[in-house]
This record gives sequence, structure tokens and C-alpha cells, in this order.
Amino acid sequence: MSSSVPAIEAEALVKIYHENSANAVRALDGLSLHVCKGEIFGLLGQNGAGKTTFLRILTTLTRATAGRASLLGLDVERKGLQVRQSICAVLQENAVELYLSVEDNLRTYGRFHSLGGAEISRRSAQVIEQFGLGNHRKQKVIDLSGGLKRRLQVSKVLMVDKPVVFLDEPTTGMDPISKRATLDALREQADRGRTILLTTHILEEAEELCDTIAIIDHGRLVALGDPNTIKSYGSAAVDIRVTYSALPQDALATPVAFPAYAAQAATYDTGNLYRCKSHFTVRGSR
Ligand SMILES: Nc1ncnc2c1ncn2[C@@H]1O[C@H](COP(=O)(O)OP(=O)(O)OP(=O)(O)O)[C@@H](O)[C@H]1O
Ligand SMILES: [Mg+2]
Repeated sequence: MSSSVPAIEAEALVKIYHENSANAVRALDGLSLHVCKGEIFGLLGQNGAGKTTFLRILTTLTRATAGRASLLGLDVERKGLQVRQSICAVLQENAVELYLSVEDNLRTYGRFHSLGGAEISRRSAQVIEQFGLGNHRKQKVIDLSGGLKRRLQVSKVLMVDKPVVFLDEPTTGMDPISKRATLDALREQADRGRTILLTTHILEEAEELCDTIAIIDHGRLVALGDPNTIKSYGSAAVDIRVTYSALPQDALATPVAFPAYAAQAATYDTGNLYRCKSHFTVRGSR
């Protein structure tokens, strides 16, 4: 059950990769987000929007260039160890031991998180059943399909009881049945008081599962709200047509400048950006 007690607080986070170089990338641009305890919070945005970067800062894998972030009141930079002890994460890249079997992956992960032998057996049997890994328990992970590897990765983090769970595109590559098992398992975890922050590209999945959805673009927040609010943005998606009686000079001079006028139109309705990006039409005549 979601509460109003903050679990994650991020204030004006900026992340610039390769700062001071010609290849500098501003991945986060003053992003502030608050997630409450027991909440399932969905982070959406197109490729390169900054979702993984946000997760990497919160999980102490990379440092913010500016701004601050805390988890359960612990500053992620100054209290890194305590933060790591309070979280578990499924990252975008598959983090599984390829040369261990499914069962041994779960056992190793349980030991790493200080679970006792009996507890490991009980919990791993539970997640193996929940995620349909029974026929693969003795198989080396390197021999599994991508979707099965993903199932194992999600199973691992749900096996240990950490108060905050981060999942970067947890259902990518999964078949519909495994997706359903994952969504149900995540809801069950949140009902038991765990806080879940996940990223996804599937708006319908986020609408079904999340208490709150944030949409980011170029490292900035463009929409925030409960699924109904976000849905209402979508249903209000409009086809914006900008017709110039005479195109501005710079648009004519450089064809590449032309899309900038479409982007400018988009800023009038940033809440709808995610859904109606493809609806923009810009017409012009000389
Ligand atoms: N290690 C890195 N070094 C340099 N640039 C990076 C690095 N990691 C990410 N970026 C850049 O930062 C921006 C944000 O990337 P990020 O991976 O956070 O986006 P994302 O929203 O997770 O995208 P996707 O949906 O594709 O996973 C992109 O422009 C990306 O190229
Ligand atoms: Mg990503």
C-alpha cells in the first residue's frame, strides 16, 4: 500500500557524461522526482530520455553532476553502502552468472544477501514456480533464451526482501504469460510494503501497474500523475498543424532547422508529448 512517506527523493538532478569534452551528453537536466513508500512508480520516455541514468544514480552506479538524491533518507553519494544494503535492482543489461545453473544463480544471490540455507531453498522454489523456471533449474544460464534470462533476473530480486526495488525494463523480451507473472508479482510485492521504481516503454503496462507515472524527455520531466491523469493526456492528444503563410527565413535557409518548428509546437502541450509525437504535422508554404 502506498503511503505519503518518501522513499526516494531526487532534487534537480543533472548528469553530464564526458563533461568538459566535445562529446558531452546532458542525460539528466534538472530532474526532480519523489516516490512514496509502498508505491509502484513508472518512469517512461523514449530511447535516450535518461531513465537508466536516473536508476544508475539512485543505485549508486554513477554520480550525479549536480543536484541531490536520497533513498529512505540516505544520501546516495555519502551513504552509498547503506543505500546498496537497502535495494535490489534489475538493470537493463542482464546481470546473471552465465556459467552457473538457474538454481545456483538463485542460491548465490541468496547467500550474497545473507539468507540462510533453508530460507534460500524455500524462496528459490517459490520464484522458480512463480516464473515457470522449473524445467530449466539445472540448465546453465548461457544456454537460456533472452526471455528466460530476464525471468531469472526478475526472480532473483524478488527472492530477497529489500525495501526498495529498481527494475529497468523488467519485462523486455518476455512472453505474455511471463509478463503477466511479473506484473502480478510486482503488485504483490508493493502490497507488502516494498517500493518499486521501474522503467518501461509500454504505456499500457505502466497504466495497469503503477500508482504514479512520470514521463521524461531529454532528461526533463514532461508529465507526472496517476495513470488516469496520464491517460487523459493521451486521450486529449491533438494533431497540431502549424501553417506559415510565409516560412521563416532560417527554415528555408537550412532544411535541417525545419523540425525545430515542430518541436516548438510540441512545447505548447508537453504533457502529451509521449503519445502524440508522431501526430505533429508542420506545413509551410513560401
Ligand atoms: N556511459 C555513458 N556515456 C556517455 N553517454 C551515455 C552513457 N550512458 C548513457 N549515455 C547517454 O545519456 C543519454 C540518456 O541515456 P539513458 O541510457 O539514461 O536513456 P534511457 O532513457 O534509459 O534510454 P533507453 O530507453 O534506450 O534505455 C543518452 O543520450 C545516452 O546516449
Ligand atoms: Mg535505458
